[in-house]
Amino acid sequence: IAADSGSLDRFAFDEITHGVDTTHHVADGYNADILIRWGDPLFAEAPTFDPHDQSADAQERQFGYNNDYVGFVPLEGRFDHGLLVVNHEYTNEELMFPGLPGPLDAHDFSGMTREMVEIEKAAHGVSVVEVKREGGRWRYIQGGRYNRRITPRSTEIAIAGPVAGHDRVKTDADPDGRTVIGTLNNCAGGVTPWGTILTCEENFHGYFLGDAESHPEKDKLERYGVPGHSYAWGDFDRRFDISREPNEPNRFGWVVEIDPMDPQSTPVKRTALGRFKHEGAASMLTEDGRLVVYMGDDQRFDYVYKFVSRDVVNHADPAANRDLLDHGTLYVARFDEDGNVDWLPLEHGDGPLTEENGFASQADVLIDTRLAADALGATPMDRPEDVEGNPATGDVYIMLTNNTERTESQVDAANPREDNTFGHIVEIITDGQHTATQNRWEVLVQCGNPADGEVGAMWNPATSDDGWFAAPDNCAVDARGRLWVTTDQGGSWSKTGTADGVWALETEGERRGTGKMFFRVPVGAEMCGPCFTPDDTAFFVAVQHPAADGIEAFEGHDGRSSFENPATRWPDFHDGMPPRPSLVSITRKGGGTIG
Ligand code: FEO
Ligand code: CA
Ligand code: CA
Ligand code: CA
Repeated sequence: IAADSGSLDRFAFDEITHGVDTTHHVADGYNADILIRWGDPLFAEAPTFDPHDQSADAQERQFGYNNDYVGFVPLEGRFDHGLLVVNHEYTNEELMFPGLPGPLDAHDFSGMTREMVEIEKAAHGVSVVEVKREGGRWRYIQGGRYNRRITPRSTEIAIAGPVAGHDRVKTDADPDGRTVIGTLNNCAGGVTPWGTILTCEENFHGYFLGDAESHPEKDKLERYGVPGHSYAWGDFDRRFDISREPNEPNRFGWVVEIDPMDPQSTPVKRTALGRFKHEGAASMLTEDGRLVVYMGDDQRFDYVYKFVSRDVVNHADPAANRDLLDHGTLYVARFDEDGNVDWLPLEHGDGPLTEENGFASQADVLIDTRLAADALGATPMDRPEDVEGNPATGDVYIMLTNNTERTESQVDAANPREDNTFGHIVEIITDGQHTATQNRWEVLVQCGNPADGEVGAMWNPATSDDGWFAAPDNCAVDARGRLWVTTDQGGSWSKTGTADGVWALETEGERRGTGKMFFRVPVGAEMCGPCFTPDDTAFFVAVQHPAADGIEAFEGHDGRSSFENPATRWPDFHDGMPPRPSLVSITRKGGGTIG
């Protein structure tokens, strides 16, 4: 496909325009339907959503808040019927609960009660939900037999791999160091070739309170920003207070594997993939049939990683891959000025990763992955968000969302702009050599407005005034090997004048680096999830935190978006109903493939 694209526009849709208003927009000729919203009941007996009378037990039976990653798993090989596995990354109290004045300041949790904290926990985690296309439109099935909620309130999750049972993950509640309640701040993810879902624990530091000064691992905590003091949880639940449960933070920051086809199964934290602020996990097959998982650590000046499994994937027997992610080698990336990326193995005993340097075993190397990668001299990047592989070309795309703290002296070839407000995308050119310890890399685009010389943007000149974007966050590669990028500008959308959305981005031929706008979110939201069915006839996108970000720049609103006075009541637009993070299913009117 790729080699023949030449100068043809492979994206056959008329693009929409930049802008911001209270609702969503999609290119002409497509339906964009609300598929499922925060609070929609997942089980036959689950209560109807009532935002004025919430309970944690009800929320545990309902779709969670702030949908981020979306994965599709076909049922019986069908592409019009399957399971969506959806991350619920975090919660916005001021938009969820009546009576709060506006966004909570870190350290000030007055107004939060024990029950509100329990509702928040129940709104985090993961949903598995059955979906089906009928009469051209998708709907979710309440009471579907695979429907499931996984939450940090009540779901047992196993710890597997080199860290399982280690002293540093033992707690009062889990003296064996092998079982954690829940998964937290699940951002992006990925699907494995055997049909399980990898969900990634990102900003786990924010849930912890307590005193770092007297903590036995003070320096190690600091590298991860623990305690982050963003949530009240530690005031009501001792395990989120590091003064009382010092090892609990070591039990988060992992990639978690879920089998969506078995609602009784125990999800598993796969410690061989390292502990950091995991954004996503993109699986590809290596040239010799093993698995490679590409991953980003989303913080300013953090790193890009890959894990290569020891064993080959068994395609005939999915169950045989049960422990595949427990054995293999984790590498961190060093990008040089000549377009090479070196993959440095994180193996105990190699180079600086020794007991004298604080790494007594492979478990230490993995719990302290960031410190180990620091010691190896990995390249600090501009916030590595989602990473996605292209099976058609072997290329791997890395969304580098922004880094306004990079100074002139810190600029390098792979992070070419100081004060990088708008982000860029790096492409790793593997030629299918995913086990190699060296590949090539290139910058695909430098984001922001190409008409503003100060910005230093780099796009194909074929890109229109609406085709450029800023702050790439998530991405998807469709069945035809084409890249689609979604954005998260946070509060700085006013610097581009457009809300976040979905852009198609050409990666091949003469139009390489040409963007084209396909979908736009309502004010204050970011765009997550992008997920195609394997036949490209449906495109699922996740509208996260409508009415939350940058509202002070939104004309006609006073800038304190809250439950009572939100900047938009998308998607219901009913008085008294707050904005609701929701999944949107996009289909072509009359049927056919997307784009
Ligand atoms: Fe949760 Fe890095 O975005
Ligand atoms: Ca993200
Ligand atoms: Ca993705
Ligand atoms: Ca985001």
